[in-house]
Amino acid sequence: MLGPVILAASRSDKMRRFISAAPGTKQVVDRFIAGETVDQVVPVIEDAADKGLEVTLDVVGEDITTPEQAAAARDAYLELIERLKDLGLGTRAEMSVKLSMFGQSLDGGHELALANVRPVVEAAAAIGTTVTLDAEDHTTLDSMFAIHEELRKDFPQTGCVIQAYLFRTEEDARRLADAGSRVRIVKGAYKEPASVAYQDKAEIDKAYVRILKTLMQGEGYPMIGSHDPRLIAIAQELGRQAGRKLDEYEFQMLYGIRSDEHIRLAAEGHRMRVYTAYGTDWYGYFMRRLAEKPANLLFFGRSILTK
Ligand code: FDA
Repeated sequence: MLGPVILAASRSDKMRRFISAAPGTKQVVDRFIAGETVDQVVPVIEDAADKGLEVTLDVVGEDITTPEQAAAARDAYLELIERLKDLGLGTRAEMSVKLSMFGQSLDGGHELALANVRPVVEAAAAIGTTVTLDAEDHTTLDSMFAIHEELRKDFPQTGCVIQAYLFRTEEDARRLADAGSRVRIVKGAYKEPASVAYQDKAEIDKAYVRILKTLMQGEGYPMIGSHDPRLIAIAQELGRQAGRKLDEYEFQMLYGIRSDEHIRLAAEGHRMRVYTAYGTDWYGYFMRRLAEKPANLLFFGRSILTK
């Protein structure tokens, strides 16, 4: 019940100002956001590497309003990649990007986002790593998939995300399960209407399993983005049935969520990648994490009240 209300608030500027300024917010934000700067996130990447984990890095930000902000987002990723190169961490860290941060929703946004993301993908490839295009709300996806296809002509390892809650995704999964593809399957985190998406959790889980089957039986590299123990066990079983070795798919979870499980799966020999978000424009990302688990909201409310 609370999830959709929180997701609606994630688009409100008034709420953004209120929540950003509230005392106690930072303490809760810190659970999900690994730092504000590259300097602060580097020890987090090193710590993950020490624990046998890999990371995908997200410089938080979305829904920018000017081409200058889109260029700044590109530059933030280029700075990050430069640091990873200097530290020799290129092969342990990949990048996750939201095209809305690269200008996708501005006038001429499709071309602008492609022009901004291409140098990031190029720089990542030059240090031996890859970029995955996150999936945002359903209105952005045709453009995201077209940019993904374009980038794959030169950088076939460029990944993308598909969301189990959308009716369209089973078909997208069939199209994307080709040789060399890297596809992250997630449940979906945006507020979507009943005309395009399942609303019922059980229906979303069933769709997730059907899509996972397609990806596991396909020729690409599935990336299972979920903290759901049932889906993780099903993914392991589907991987086994499809004859995949443990390094022929990977699990992904978010920084700050079920951290013991990250370690357990890595210890079992799975490739485990932690989606690590950092930066100052954390509001949208943070609100989606609150919406996923209303108990987070109680914790958040308590921390504001006790400040
Ligand atoms: P579910 O929500 O059922 O959670 C299972 C269990 O995990 C919960 O019972 C709880 O214990 C724990 N949990 C989950 N979320 C939590 C939270 N916020 N706080 C505390 N505990 C929590 N979405 C999208 O639309 N586009 C994208 O590009 C991505 N990218 C992405 C990358 C990665 C690596 C992950 C793991 C997820 C995403 N998502 C995403 C988010 C995804 O769509 C979904 O909202 C969350 O993963 C929550 O769904 P679960 O599959 O974890 O199951």
